[in-house]
Parts: sequence; structure tokens; C-alpha cells
Amino acid sequence: MIKIKNFSGVAPPTEESKALLNCVLALKGKDVLELGTGTGYVAIGASQKGRKVLATDINHKAVEACKTNAQLNNINLMILQSDLFKNVSGKFDIIAFNPPISIDKASSDTTHRIKSFIRSTKLLRSVLRYTYSKLNKSVLRLIDKLFIDAKEYLKENGGILICVINNFEEDINNLSDKRGYNHEVMSNFGYGKVYRFTLR
Ligand SMILES: C[S@@+](CC[C@H](N)C(=O)[O-])C[C@H]1O[C@@H](n2cnc3c(N)ncnc32)[C@H](O)[C@@H]1O
Repeated sequence: MIKIKNFSGVAPPTEESKALLNCVLALKGKDVLELGTGTGYVAIGASQKGRKVLATDINHKAVEACKTNAQLNNINLMILQSDLFKNVSGKFDIIAFNPPISIDKASSDTTHRIKSFIRSTKLLRSVLRYTYSKLNKSVLRLIDKLFIDAKEYLKENGGILICVINNFEEDINNLSDKRGYNHEVMSNFGYGKVYRFTLR
């Protein structure tokens, strides 16, 4: 069992976190790098099953949350603050990332109500469309950077696991292809899939 204390300003574990952890555990690789660890759910779960994990996040609050949760689970985890690979060294069998795409998949009642209200007015609808397209572009830029930089950090036969929300599937697969990766679906979590990307 993974004990998780949630912190304000840190993304709590969701369906895709669970799917990502299951995919990490389904693979043989021992050395795991988790980018964007949030509360540390995936990193802690993988450590509990004997993987050697380096957990990172760009957000210092997430780094603190992950440290607290690692202690809560009596796990000795390497955790550091890093923008993607900036402060990372070493090579890994698995690089796991559940990217920050929450606005598109938010599903609470309140969120639905707010979204319906916004969609009902013409001006706000175009603001929403503009915000989505900006957000989409920034997520795709982040993933593209990951594909480029990861090559230095992957062991031979290593792979990248990414939670891909349905709306992003085509764009992310095109990017991976452009950067020299093959892709395969490892699991489905309803509104998206966990993909494994391996160098051709
Ligand atoms: C959707 S949350 C995933 C949290 C956790 N891995 C999980 O599955 O529950 C995305 C995380 O990525 C982190 N993040 C965003 N941009 C990042 C970057 N450039 N480098 C590292 N982490 C980043 C965010 O701070 C956030 O904690």
C-alpha cells in the first residue's frame, strides 16, 4: 500500500498516476527516473517493488511533498528539483512522465458547470479556445524537449513512458516519430493511454 499525504499546490495522484505505476512495474528495467513526481506516488510505488528510482519535479513544493511521502512509507528515495533533465545525471531503463495537462481532463461537477457557463458566451468561448491552444502548445514543446534530451539519459533498450491524454495522441506520436522513436500503447486509463517510446 502507498500512503500519500496531499499538499496544496501539488497535483494529487489520479487514474493516470496509477496506470503509469503499473506500466513501470510491468517492465523489467531496474533504474527508473520519474520526471514530475508530484506527491511521489509513482516513484514510491516503484521503490516499494525494488526499483532504483530518482524522483524529480520542477516545483519545490512537489519535491517537499515527495520527501514527506517517502518518509511516510519508509522509503529511501533520491529526490531532486529539476526542470526535465537539467539537474539529472546517469542513465535509466525507464523514464516516466505524467505531464501537466490537467485543464483538458478536469471532470468534477464544479468544473463542468464552470466550463458550460464559459462555453455559453461567445467572447468567453474564444478566450477558452485561445487558452487551450496556448496550453496545448506549451505541453507539446515540453514533450518535444523531453524526446530530444532523453536520448542522453536512456540505457540501451531503455524507454520512455508518458501518460498521453486522448486530445494529444496524434500530436505526441508525430513528435516522437520526428525525433526517432517508435511508440506502443501499454495501457488505457479511459481519457488517455500510457505510451512507451523507444529509440529506433
Ligand atoms: C500531472 S502532475 C503528475 C504528478 C505525479 N507524477 C502523478 O502522476 O501523480 C505533473 C507534474 O509535472 C511537474 N512538471 C511540470 N513541468 C515540469 C518540468 N519541466 N520538469 C519537471 N517536472 C515538471 C509538475 O510540477 C507536476 O508535479
